[in-house]
Amino acid sequence: MAPLFTIRYQSLRSLLLVCDAFVLKFIQTPIWMIIYALPFLRPKRDWSLRRIIMAKYVQHMVFMSRMFGKVAISPDHRALAPEQKGSWVDPVPKELLVGRIKDMAATAGIEPIRLPSYWIDREGCDVAIGAPPRPGEKVVFHMHGGAYAFLSASPEDPTTHIGRGQMERCESIGRVFSIEFRATTTPNNEPVNPFPTQLIDALTGYYYLVQTVGFFPADIIVDGDSAGGNLALALTLYLLENQNREDVEFPAPPGKLLLLSPWCDLSPIHLTPGSSWTEFTHIDCLHAGYMQDYAEIFCGPFGLQEAEVNPYISPASTHPSLSVSFKGFPRTFILCGGSEAFRDQIRVLRDRMVRELGEENVTYYEPSDAIHDFLGMTWLEPERTNSWSEIGRWLDH
Ligand SMILES: *[C@@H]1O[C@H](CO)[C@@H](O)[C@H](O)[C@H]1NC(C)=O
Repeated sequence: MAPLFTIRYQSLRSLLLVCDAFVLKFIQTPIWMIIYALPFLRPKRDWSLRRIIMAKYVQHMVFMSRMFGKVAISPDHRALAPEQKGSWVDPVPKELLVGRIKDMAATAGIEPIRLPSYWIDREGCDVAIGAPPRPGEKVVFHMHGGAYAFLSASPEDPTTHIGRGQMERCESIGRVFSIEFRATTTPNNEPVNPFPTQLIDALTGYYYLVQTVGFFPADIIVDGDSAGGNLALALTLYLLENQNREDVEFPAPPGKLLLLSPWCDLSPIHLTPGSSWTEFTHIDCLHAGYMQDYAEIFCGPFGLQEAEVNPYISPASTHPSLSVSFKGFPRTFILCGGSEAFRDQIRVLRDRMVRELGEENVTYYEPSDAIHDFLGMTWLEPERTNSWSEIGRWLDH
């Protein structure tokens, strides 16, 4: 199991965070400043001292959750987050669970359930919850990252800047919607809700957007960062594979897909000497053993070997038995940090998508000095601003 220590009391958690902030500020940071003052000791020699230290901070946050699991507790699927624009969404009808996903849900004992959902309006607007779309209105359906175990769909979550950023750059986007898909660990770090729980929950959100709210699928932009990118891929794949069924009608796939540092191979296949996993281990926040732990929790009763061959879990796996097709996928933008551990698997994903969809339908952007899921890191400039410009252009196109 992932964390070494589990803290059950909120007061202890708060104390730990205060102590950690103190040590980080007054002990750890000065040590880093002394060591990395010498460029030849920096993990990347051409990086500024500030950039190295900020990257070390991000690594430290991940280190804390390796040690203690969930220290700061996020809202989860059991309740609506207080003081947020949200409502409960009914579970997706069971007829929409078909084929392999239906069987795997039965094996894992997973049923669709009612879930909290959230809306973010444009700055200065106040749209009623679930109001029908205005003519031509587009909506962002955001899937948050966090290794499927951390963070939340609530508008206070750090990843919601991704939806807000799209809204700022594209006038036809009226709102951002998100569904509180079930996490794979409890607040006390016990494993729960393995695959395909989150795919079923994403489907619940998508079905609601189309059937209840009334958005045309073509007006939906699905985005996801890191594990959220994995989920965005799985949802799109599932919708596409089940178009034109005779027994049950599936909503059409979304109009666009935005993938930010997507986790697209949960298996250890890409974890080899000389790969991006080993090359960026001193600067990127992703830790191989840690991510494998969360991949294993996600695979639940199916075991990590399922991640090698299941296209909904690892569409970029290079296992010879994996069969995946991106035929019919919407226009896709893929953002990848050129110095992130996932780089190799994301390039495999890009190559597969380009092969089937054509260059014009897949936009790929990889700033060489950026790390994992960097779009929210205000210190990672000019990479961040440049990436947003590329995304803005793609949204308008
Ligand atoms: C891009 O996608 C459109 C719509 O699916 C398709 O008609 C077109 O052929 C694709 N382009 C290439 C180069 O495959």
